[in-house]
Amino acid sequence: MAVVVEEIVEQKQDERTSLLWQISRQAGSRVRKFFGTDLEIQNKGDVDLVTEADHDVERFLVTQILDHFPNDGILTEEGRNHISDNAFRWIIDPLDGTTNFAHGLPHFATSIALEEDGALVAGVVYDAVKGEFFHAQRGQGAFLNSQPITAGSRKTLETCLCVSGFPYDRRKKLPQLLCRVGNALAQSHGFRRLGAASLDLAYVACGRLDLYWEDSLHPWDVAAGILLVQEAGGRVSNYDGGEIDLDKGEILAANPELIHDAVDRIIKGQAWGREV
Ligand code: IPD
Ligand code: CA
Ligand code: CA
Repeated sequence: MAVVVEEIVEQKQDERTSLLWQISRQAGSRVRKFFGTDLEIQNKGDVDLVTEADHDVERFLVTQILDHFPNDGILTEEGRNHISDNAFRWIIDPLDGTTNFAHGLPHFATSIALEEDGALVAGVVYDAVKGEFFHAQRGQGAFLNSQPITAGSRKTLETCLCVSGFPYDRRKKLPQLLCRVGNALAQSHGFRRLGAASLDLAYVACGRLDLYWEDSLHPWDVAAGILLVQEAGGRVSNYDGGEIDLDKGEILAANPELIHDAVDRIIKGQAWGREV
């Protein structure tokens, strides 16, 4: 499927958002070129991988941003951070879904968000292999390949398709993680684990999935996806149903009518018969 990124430039944008769209597209092309090649892969932890592609794309993005906006702050997964007290901060996951990528499974994305004074103002999640460019701007909606998207409207958990992910320290908290999966399997239409948090959120934003939760995440996994869900009319919260805090790591995303059911029946629930 061809990506109609050029059409996006018709929308209102400032210098930073046009740079965001341009470098996201270029980052996606770089990721796609690396995919399926014989790559150098390293372990950051027991099950946490990093590849040559993660580093190449991150290096590219940071260089581009600092060339254009040398005083902006940058937070990245692989550590090429730029600390600044400027109002603008870029939050970058050069390759979200690295485990899928390293195993040749075509489900991963580049995720870039822009914050102004601590609030998310623009974001892109680009799945270059599938040709799906998700973007959002605060107050202007969320889009997939330039077409507006909206979060799903299913009101009952029983009709919902749920997704979650498991953190790299998952072995330490298996009972709790599996209890929530059990709650979803027992009470919803289905459960999926796809392996890229940014795309889980993008899929909630366009209604392919109804409910997403995960913990022990980092801002770069979710920043762009949060804005996509919010701009698509969805709700993003912490595990209590309260305001999302990027630095807390836990996230729940769904349409606004489902959030409370999700807190009670998935996060805190015991349908599977275990205490969380
Ligand atoms: C991971 C993916 C995965 C999620 C992990 C993340 P990475 O990011 O988003 O879906 O379950 O918690 O760390 O390491 O592939 O960029
Ligand atoms: Ca990630
Ligand atoms: Ca990553």
